[in-house]
Amino acid sequence: MTMIYFDYAATTPVLPEVADAMLPYLTQMYGNASSIHSAGREARAALHHARDTIASFVGCAPSQLIFTSGGTESDNMALFGAAAARESDGKHIITSQTEHHAVLHACEQLEKRGFEVTCLPVDPTGRVRLEDVRQAVRADTILISIMYVNNEVGAIQPIEQIGELARANGILFHVDAVQALGHLPIDLSRLPVDMMSFSAHKLNGPKGIGALYAAKHTKLEPLLYGGNQERKRRAGTENIASIAGFSKAVQIIERNMYEMQQKMEKLRLEMVTGLEQLLGQDRFVVNGPKAPAERAPHILNVSFPGVSTETMLMNLDLEGIAAASGSACTSGSLEVSHVLKAMQLPDEIMRSAVRFSFGSGTTTEEVNIAAQKIATIMGRIRNY
Ligand SMILES: Cc1ncc(COP(=O)(O)O)c(C=O)c1O
Repeated sequence: MTMIYFDYAATTPVLPEVADAMLPYLTQMYGNASSIHSAGREARAALHHARDTIASFVGCAPSQLIFTSGGTESDNMALFGAAAARESDGKHIITSQTEHHAVLHACEQLEKRGFEVTCLPVDPTGRVRLEDVRQAVRADTILISIMYVNNEVGAIQPIEQIGELARANGILFHVDAVQALGHLPIDLSRLPVDMMSFSAHKLNGPKGIGALYAAKHTKLEPLLYGGNQERKRRAGTENIASIAGFSKAVQIIERNMYEMQQKMEKLRLEMVTGLEQLLGQDRFVVNGPKAPAERAPHILNVSFPGVSTETMLMNLDLEGIAAASGSACTSGSLEVSHVLKAMQLPDEIMRSAVRFSFGSGTTTEEVNIAAQKIATIMGRIRNY
């Protein structure tokens, strides 16, 4: 049975073109980018090329990108780095309840170190209200960290307006854009953002590589000390093969981002229409914003009241369909997702939510098969 993969928001396959771009740097051009000799120069050239490519895609200067081990490290670097660098200005940080744990757990650690964190609520669609941000700002606020696209429901946050508010108050603004890169256009030359996190494995690049954008004026204490790599902001021998893969993945998505957006939107609509026809509108609920401008097209979060998330995911898996929930699995049972909880959805909706996320390999046929399989599963459970 071939698997139907609907978990692109968790991770994506490395495209063959990306693997081809990486391989030479593992086997032939394996030099250390800090070395003087020709092998080192070769690695350095690849590093520069990748940095230029990715910087141009997101509209920043190459020197403003720091390569990291992925989204988690980028988020941690932004929070711990900025908190340590600005501690003397204040100890208050603003974030939201629906951030990724890479932000939320870093904030918990910062609280243990004496920082105060305001965790903003969201509306029932998962969006932060600008007014809440405005009211949370204090004289000692040093940092705001709000994600661009939520990884569970796809909600797009009003980062431009939040950034303007932050600028007007002299507060640093960090954006976790891990789920946005490759799905939404990002132009850092005009966005009021000081730091932005990226990860390669969400856009058909390899796992374990990402980047943090840090605007010129942004002071950051490094997380890692050692060599002088990344302008002393992130020590450690650069992972050239993965960086080359990240760059290739960016080049590919740059060529066809608009088509991909259209494709995702079509697949999403196909899935919802299929479910409407096969199940009826009253048997499922789509979670997250309705308006296309307020949500990313590759994430579709659906609740099937009466069927628990676990039951649906297990049955889908038996049918060869890989979907996900935002819930953490603790002692063998699923906990309710912190994102859906923050949206204050009814218990039945939270406990039956499933995330389908689409990517470059998803086809209309797969979506149609999935809708049919879901209807079969629902029918089976109903008759049981
Ligand atoms: C919004 C968001 N932030 C951060 C991360 C962590 O990224 P990484 O897996 O590269 O550490 C993820 C991964 O799921 C994510 O979706």
